[in-house]
Amino acid sequence: MSDVLLVERDGRVAILTINRPDKLNALNTEVRDAAVKILGELAEDDGVGVVVITGAGEKSFIAGAEIGEFEGRTPFDQRDAMSSPRIFDLMASFPKPVIAMINGFCLGGGCELAMSCDIRVAADSARFGQPEIKLGLIPGGGGTQRMPRLIGTGQTMRLMLTGDMIPAAEAKEIGLVEIVHPAAELREKTLELAHKIAAKSPLTLKIAKEAIRAAERLPIEDGITYERDLFCLVFSTEDKAEGVKAFLEKRPAEWKGR
Ligand code: COA
Repeated sequence: MSDVLLVERDGRVAILTINRPDKLNALNTEVRDAAVKILGELAEDDGVGVVVITGAGEKSFIAGAEIGEFEGRTPFDQRDAMSSPRIFDLMASFPKPVIAMINGFCLGGGCELAMSCDIRVAADSARFGQPEIKLGLIPGGGGTQRMPRLIGTGQTMRLMLTGDMIPAAEAKEIGLVEIVHPAAELREKTLELAHKIAAKSPLTLKIAKEAIRAAERLPIEDGITYERDLFCLVFSTEDKAEGVKAFLEKRPAEWKGR
């Protein structure tokens, strides 16, 4: 386990904590490499149903990419640093639900990482923004593509062209986060949500995520055909047989992930 990325297990929920609080959990190469490695392990771990990602300390989720690493890099170095596997894409395509637990500054690559997760839960004290424009840069972690899909082109333009920060309540209003809790309740409430999801069939969760993610790239007719095919795929599972049987017998289902 790396010092800059802590991994905790709480039943079927794995909690990843980016642990550079003195640098507001900025994403440096060490954090990115550790995240890629641990996500690979968690993807294979049948004991993990849901992953929660957060930042250490009370001040920041992730205050963006480590700006110090931009100095002295050639465009070729930067291209190598931004080549696959990238944590943003790994989150989006991860075979299990990933929840961003946003405990403070959620800026730049941090906001892009949150947008790559499946659900965003924020503390009421969190602040959001894409300040790259102030550095003479644009977002490079998928932000220009993911943000318009989440909150529309106009709001994305406003945030990315000004570099302004917005509070959690406003982020919720425009659809950048799904849920906001008082900061003191963030962990408890987020874990409650994570456990509720992790108690479902892992196989069905995986297919549900795949179907919903397809909406980001497919035209609607193709997406609906894809959904039908995936529906028929889960129709053949033991978990579907168990889920239907349990409903008819008025008892909780016991999922097998098959
Ligand atoms: N990369 C590297 N270091 C960062 C960082 C980043 N993205 N964000 C914050 N830090 C560091 C600061 O340099 C400072 O380090 P130091 O104590 O060694 O000087 C430490 O984290 C604390 O940050 P500080 O700026 O003192 O806190 P603050 O409360 O005054 O301001 C922010 C908080 C988030 C407004 C400010 O840190 C900031 O603007 N960060 C950059 C955000 C950004 O542009 N992200 C996109 C990067 S592409």
